[in-house]
Amino acid sequence: MHGDRLSTIFIASRCQAADLELRRLVAITRVNNKKRQITGCLFWTGQYFAQILEGTSVQLSQAVSRLCDGGRQAAPRILFQSQIDARQFDNSHLAFLPAPDFEEAVAEAHAGGGRLHQFQILFALLVQEHHEYASEPRELRAPRPDAPQKQKPLQGEPAGAGIWGG
Ligand SMILES: Cc1cc2nc3c(=O)[nH]c(=O)nc-3n(C[C@H](O)[C@H](O)[C@H](O)COP(=O)(O)O)c2cc1C
Repeated sequence: MHGDRLSTIFIASRCQAADLELRRLVAITRVNNKKRQITGCLFWTGQYFAQILEGTSVQLSQAVSRLCDGGRQAAPRILFQSQIDARQFDNSHLAFLPAPDFEEAVAEAHAGGGRLHQFQILFALLVQEHHEYASEPRELRAPRPDAPQKQKPLQGEPAGAGIWGG
């Protein structure tokens, strides 16, 4: 695979972070992903993350190294990586979306169950979930019941940024 070809990667990992750590993780990771022109979304099911990242394969492998080094406790599992023609998460360097309905499917994928076509279906459903959420007018978006609560801005967090956008 050529290093400058646009690719997407789909990763399942375990979530052991408390609310504040989760906000810190998202804020730090957004800054890092922006530097590397990586876009994507972190779906949080409660016990697990499903993460979609987009970028050149060189940029993605750097991000995955950071994830594997820094996020060892998350035991990341790469479900697949493939080339793409266009980005799905244009302006989001790490959108964040609680997705409790996907807990069972992501847990199974993380545990080593499932086949490529099942991961592709899960991937497509998550992309759809994100697009549906992102297309709702901001003022009509109901806060998800299990969203980490906004407290004060984190160091390095852009003014006005919440955990949602990215
Ligand atoms: C669930 C999870 C997802 C992550 N996603 C990314 C990512 O998309 N890009 C990236 O460069 N690093 C990613 N990382 C790595 C973190 O940004 C960070 O480098 C790592 O957690 C170490 O941070 P610390 O040294 O402040 O504890 C991820 C880590 C975790 C646990």
